[in-house]
Amino acid sequence: MRPPLFLSSLLLITILCIYPSQGSVHKCDLPDHGSTLQIMHIYSPCSPFRPSRQLSWEQTVLDMAAKDEARLQYLSSLVAKRSIVPIASGRQLLQTPTYIVRAKLGTPAQTLLMAMDTSSDAAWIPCSGCVGCSSNVFVANLSTTYKTVGCQSPQCKQVPNPTCAGTACSFNLTYGSSTIAATVSQDTLTLATDPVPDYSFGCLSSVIGSSAPPQGLLGLGRGPLSLLSQTQDLYQSTFSYCLPSFKSLNFSGSLRLGPVAQPKRIKTTPLLRNPRRSSLYYVNMIGISVGRKFLDIPPSALAYNEATGAGTIFDSGTVFTRLVAPAYTALRDEFRRRIKGANVTSLGGFDTCYTVPIVAPAITFHFTGMNVTLPLDNMLIHSTAGSITCLAMAAAPDNVNSVLNVIANMQQQNHRLLIDVPNSRLGIARELCT
Ligand SMILES: *[C@@H]1O[C@H](CO)[C@@H](O)[C@H](O)[C@H]1NC(C)=O
Ligand SMILES: *[C@@H]1O[C@H](CO)[C@@H](O)[C@H](O)[C@H]1NC(C)=O
Ligand SMILES: *[C@@H]1O[C@H](CO)[C@@H](O)[C@H](O)[C@H]1NC(C)=O
Ligand SMILES: *[C@@H]1O[C@H](CO)[C@@H](O)[C@H](O)[C@H]1NC(C)=O
Ligand SMILES: *[C@@H]1O[C@H](CO)[C@@H](O)[C@H](O)[C@H]1NC(C)=O
Repeated sequence: MRPPLFLSSLLLITILCIYPSQGSVHKCDLPDHGSTLQIMHIYSPCSPFRPSRQLSWEQTVLDMAAKDEARLQYLSSLVAKRSIVPIASGRQLLQTPTYIVRAKLGTPAQTLLMAMDTSSDAAWIPCSGCVGCSSNVFVANLSTTYKTVGCQSPQCKQVPNPTCAGTACSFNLTYGSSTIAATVSQDTLTLATDPVPDYSFGCLSSVIGSSAPPQGLLGLGRGPLSLLSQTQDLYQSTFSYCLPSFKSLNFSGSLRLGPVAQPKRIKTTPLLRNPRRSSLYYVNMIGISVGRKFLDIPPSALAYNEATGAGTIFDSGTVFTRLVAPAYTALRDEFRRRIKGANVTSLGGFDTCYTVPIVAPAITFHFTGMNVTLPLDNMLIHSTAGSITCLAMAAAPDNVNSVLNVIANMQQQNHRLLIDVPNSRLGIARELCT
């Protein structure tokens, strides 16, 4: 399977060619301070997951959009509580996560570049001896603080379908197109300079398929066994992040854990908690405007429904925002209406593209108590050669996923997203973290 290549790649390769040995090694070794971790795009020069082979810009966009289809199916399967996730043909969910952070596990610490996922609770880490994992694994027997968790422990009761091998608690589950087997384990997790002793995670022993992120998954959801639940005293279920643009080579995005140093002046909207999918960050989107026009969208397209999982979430793992069909159609039609004298063309799943320069109208998402107007960079994608520009959103797929609006990472880049569970709010503020 070909790794998708993001828009930055041509630029990246060009710059790397011009400055062959520019100090990226030095930059990549910058330590994380306090409770703040750097967030890297997977195609950052410091990421080992950047693609080795170049794809055309069009292929890149098609791949990103295809990966999103699988991601959306994953998200809605969580809502529906189904154990088997249907997957788009041949595509692999989260094969390459979009954003990664550096975490350290064990004593002495071993460094892993874990995928950051706001819609998962789990932490999974590939462990030595794992069949089907990538080569960069956690070597548990080199850590003096590593231990497995007994079958009678509360942690064992929180994992899906636990089984007991001897005294150790194990579980199998389906994740994307993969089946994984893991042993519930504990060790010291160090995030920036904060040690989290006895952190419970799944130590992967077998992976069939390639959906599991190569160096582990850091779930930032808020369900049982999540990082937030396990660091309640330390971080009080509060964090914020700023995702660097995938057009940027510099990685200065950040994940800030805990209530200290969070932005005080920030627009917020209430977080909704869906007990059927406790880890997703639902909010109440009440409308969308294009320019000054408040779109006429049927309320059912935006309504939150605990039982069906309908509503709006913010997700760090989906690349392009998806809106429930009637909402997307209303937005697209008004957007097109305002672009005069240019013919609309399409590119893969994007149906509103132009081959001439356009002056785009503003798009505003209205949430309870908070309006977010997207800067141009969060709204449009441009080919490297500048020959095609697309509205970087699409309709939700016409299947079981059709009820969920997903505000995705392309639309979140260069903003600080605050998740404040104790005060039950999600905040957003413009911040150039690129
Ligand atoms: C640690 O585990 C690995 C893989 O399971 C094994 O190859 C290695 O010999 C072990 N090292 C020690 C010190 O036990
Ligand atoms: C879990 O997966 C492992 C490795 O694939 C397999 O050996 C084991 O039988 C599975 N256990 C269950 C309960 O499915
Ligand atoms: C990173 O950003 C700095 C400051 O904006 C800039 O001077 C530098 O050229 C950038 N480096 C790369 C590799 O893009
Ligand atoms: C749009 O497409 C039509 C039909 O192909 C063509 O006649 C017209 O010149 C195009 N308009 C622009 C502005 O490119
Ligand atoms: C958001 O926008 C709507 C429509 O323009 C406006 O009526 C409302 O007062 C705004 N709300 C906030 C919190 O700015």
